[in-house]
Amino acid sequence: MPSGWCFVASPDVTLLQSARAAGIRLPSSCRNGTCRACICQLLQGEIRYRMEWPGLSREEKLEGWVLPCVAYPVADIVLAAPAAERNEG
Ligand code: FES
Repeated sequence: MPSGWCFVASPDVTLLQSARAAGIRLPSSCRNGTCRACICQLLQGEIRYRMEWPGLSREEKLEGWVLPCVAYPVADIVLAAPAAERNEG
């Protein structure tokens, strides 16, 4: 079930960083698109990568899996990130 947490995502900032700036913590480790710790699913919208091929298979990409540590938003997006946590206070 969606949390309804919203944050402003700049096209020049990764989704991971934008979420963090808004107090929402997504799991992460390498932050360069290889470890897949941050993987979550794009339900709506569009993202782009600046790297050639993030650590996702073609099938995963087609299913909407994204790596927010290297993903930049192109339009308003909706993410399913069950492991996200919100900083209190
Ligand atoms: S943090 Fe490693 S792939 Fe995103």
